[in-house]
Amino acid sequence: MFGKNGTSKPQQKRFLSEAKGITVGTLWDDVGTATEATKEIQKLFNREQNFDTPKPERLIERVISLATEEGDIVLDSFLGSGTTVAVAHKMNRKWIGIELGQHCYTHVIPRLNVVIDGEQGGISKLVNWNGGGGFKFYELAESLLVKNERLPIYQINPSYTFEMMVEAICKLEGFKYKPVGEYHGTSSENRFIHVTNEFVNSSYIISVTKNLDKKQSLLIYCTKKQSAMILPENVEIKKIPKDLLAKCNFESEGL
Ligand SMILES: C[S@@+](CC[C@H](N)C(=O)[O-])C[C@H]1O[C@@H](n2cnc3c(N)ncnc32)[C@H](O)[C@@H]1O
Repeated sequence: MFGKNGTSKPQQKRFLSEAKGITVGTLWDDVGTATEATKEIQKLFNREQNFDTPKPERLIERVISLATEEGDIVLDSFLGSGTTVAVAHKMNRKWIGIELGQHCYTHVIPRLNVVIDGEQGGISKLVNWNGGGGFKFYELAESLLVKNERLPIYQINPSYTFEMMVEAICKLEGFKYKPVGEYHGTSSENRFIHVTNEFVNSSYIISVTKNLDKKQSLLIYCTKKQSAMILPENVEIKKIPKDLLAKCNFESEGL
């Protein structure tokens, strides 16, 4: 246990008078220290929200100014306390941040909100930051396909509503989700998609293609279909979930 509250760490103290020789300078000598980073975090958040591995804003500012120009996109796929995107924002870069844990809610979002309001810590004075801008926040949905509990097959995630499933299929197949009439989305002026849980037979196809021109085409996704159907040339049928498996990467699960 070190320090008054047991939260400090031991540090080696060296006096200038004892130093010998000259240390060669590097680009990273004046970019702040772990102590500075911890102070920045403590100013931004309360004690319970301390973060284990903070980086000083000055360090990230140096990296971003060496590697990018204003308007470039900075990606941090391990946001942590959000230093990288906070600095990128203050430096007028566009940015994309990804975080798996609760840090998004406890650190990153509150931090970006104060940055947008003109927070004056870290590199703010160095880059004349006065606030502005904004960000969009998205949460990933659960996986569309999940393993069946008893059988060695994949199935649509039971937590998905029909609309969620249709939207996900549109995304995977490269269609813009926009339900109009019998179509659920379009990938071009002349290509449409229709998704259904109904049994698809010849009469179903006739009804769903009644407004389809010859120069237009339709992709139908269904769970059950009549076998050996003769389809119009501009209609293609795919099965749920079979034809979705190829669109998802399950390699990491050893399949
Ligand atoms: C060491 S911290 C990042 C520090 C951060 N760049 C900063 O300067 O404050 C690593 C973060 O990555 C997150 N993480 C780990 N695996 C992840 C994954 N697969 N996708 C997104 N975030 C992940 C952890 O929750 C943790 O907050």
